Amino acid sequence: MKPGRFEGKVAIVTGSSRGIGKAIARLLAEHGAAVVLNGRNPERLASAEKELLAIHDRVLSVSADVSTPEGGQLLVGKALERFGRIDILINNVGVSMRGRFAGLDPGVFDSMFKSNVAGAVSPSIAALPSLRETKGSLVFITSLAGIRGLPGLSAYSSAKMSLRAIAESIRIEEKSHGIHVGLIYVGYTENEAGKETVAADGSLVKIAPRSGKGVQTMESVARAVFKTISRRKFISVLTPIGKLNAVMQRFFPRLVEWIILANLEKFEERSK
Ligand SMILES: NC(=O)c1ccc[n+]([C@@H]2O[C@H](COP(=O)([O-])OP(=O)(O)OC[C@H]3O[C@@H](n4cnc5c(N)ncnc54)[C@H](OP(=O)(O)O)[C@@H]3O)[C@@H](O)[C@H]2O)c1
Repeated sequence: MKPGRFEGKVAIVTGSSRGIGKAIARLLAEHGAAVVLNGRNPERLASAEKELLAIHDRVLSVSADVSTPEGGQLLVGKALERFGRIDILINNVGVSMRGRFAGLDPGVFDSMFKSNVAGAVSPSIAALPSLRETKGSLVFITSLAGIRGLPGLSAYSSAKMSLRAIAESIRIEEKSHGIHVGLIYVGYTENEAGKETVAADGSLVKIAPRSGKGVQTMESVARAVFKTISRRKFISVLTPIGKLNAVMQRFFPRLVEWIILANLEKFEERSK
């Protein structure tokens, strides 16, 4: 295999035992990076590791819940123990939810912030010293639901929005250390079987697999992450509808609200 764009680099991708995280890890490995996979379920993680080992042998998997400080430290510690450096950290862990605000168990907010925010904060704090040494990339995976609050997604939208505040703060704080910070707004994406979401009562429910028109592939998200890192871009908004939404929300927020209200049922049905 000829040397890839990320030969010699070490990348950690949180939540990479399936879905978008696994697609990102695979692409980085294909471009030569040593990759550190992560997830909580050891069997799923082992199966992802086996898949990536077919590319090269610089693959490590660490079973850890990154929404806890210990989990973040364990992941980063194991990566450093095996590879001695970290060049890229992709904070991909996150879970979504369903249900209008009026019917929500307040604990849904806790789980959204634990997974989507604490899940990005713990590994990032642990990895910063090493990222400073390598002048590496710290990337946050957010959602189009982080551009404006969406119906049925209040807790998820607010958690994903807060990733922007975190990314903006770190970008300034770490400027003198040369760390690249990226924030990627992912649109409606296909998912692997078994994906779960948090229901209004706080329980986990499986969601139907998605594919077809208007659904972006996991590989296209991975390519966007690749570009964001290669070009050291700050903000990337994915999908044509996402780009349009970002512009419209900035200049015509009331029109966006009107469009959503006019299509509310269709909108909520699609989110299921
Ligand atoms: N799919 C979409 O349409 C879409 C749209 C916009 C944004 N996004 C964002 O993209 C990211 C990935 O989404 P996805 O659809 O690929 O999700 P997914 O299929 O549910 O995969 C999530 C991955 O994260 C792991 N994980 C979950 N919680 C974890 C934790 N606390 N610690 C460690 N690992 C954990 C899961 O494995 P275990 O369960 O075994 O831990 C799994 O490997 C999320 O941040 C999501 O919000 C997705």
